[in-house]
Amino acid sequence: MTQDELKDAVAAAALDEIRPLLGRNVVIGVGTGSTANRFIDKLATLRGDFRGAVASSEATAERLRGHGIDVFELNETGTLPVYVDGADEVNAHFHMIKGGGAALTREKIVAACSERFVCIADASKRVGRLGNFPLPVEVIPMARSYVARELVRLGADPVYREGVITDNGNQILDCYEFMIDDPEAMEARLNSIAGVVTNGLFAARGADVLLLGTDQGVERLTPSGE
Ligand code: A5P
Repeated sequence: MTQDELKDAVAAAALDEIRPLLGRNVVIGVGTGSTANRFIDKLATLRGDFRGAVASSEATAERLRGHGIDVFELNETGTLPVYVDGADEVNAHFHMIKGGGAALTREKIVAACSERFVCIADASKRVGRLGNFPLPVEVIPMARSYVARELVRLGADPVYREGVITDNGNQILDCYEFMIDDPEAMEARLNSIAGVVTNGLFAARGADVLLLGTDQGVERLTPSGE
């Protein structure tokens, strides 16, 4: 199967995963990226079965609205039952690197506000150790050089993602050559650098369900294996 077919398969599996959670008053969280886009397109078929969605990016909000799905501000909704999103890498503990599409901050906020994080990914995203994919760090623009120097001190090779402004008006540094042994500790350490808005490690709040697209079909995995 091609990577696109695998993404389609996990998007369809996510629809089955969330269907029992839907209801007239239910608002769900929706992520960003090519896999999430496929999920959004399929979600349109359930439009009448739930109230709407909170989007993790302007691009996702636009796509949802394009399908006639109402988009809500997170401040209006309270806790969401479920958040569905892709990942750039995911390890055996369901820690992830996210933010390849520069939406990491809103993704992390919506994930934090959701009872369940359903990660949808093709098998290429599964890794033993996080870090082969360059870790994105969103920074306040005036702090970019300072944060880059601090990242070098931590062993990373940060590269400014030129021409990219996040939905929050900030900039992205991508950390190359940065293999991560302890994702939870590194997530907290990076957050402690002045000027860092968010980093793309999703470890303190990882995924609860991983729908992994493989040539043999979609595997449904949970941290406890239940
Ligand atoms: C967006 O900022 C990211 O976190 C995406 O969720 C991640 O990059 C996965 O994207 P794809 O589904 O396009 O691989």
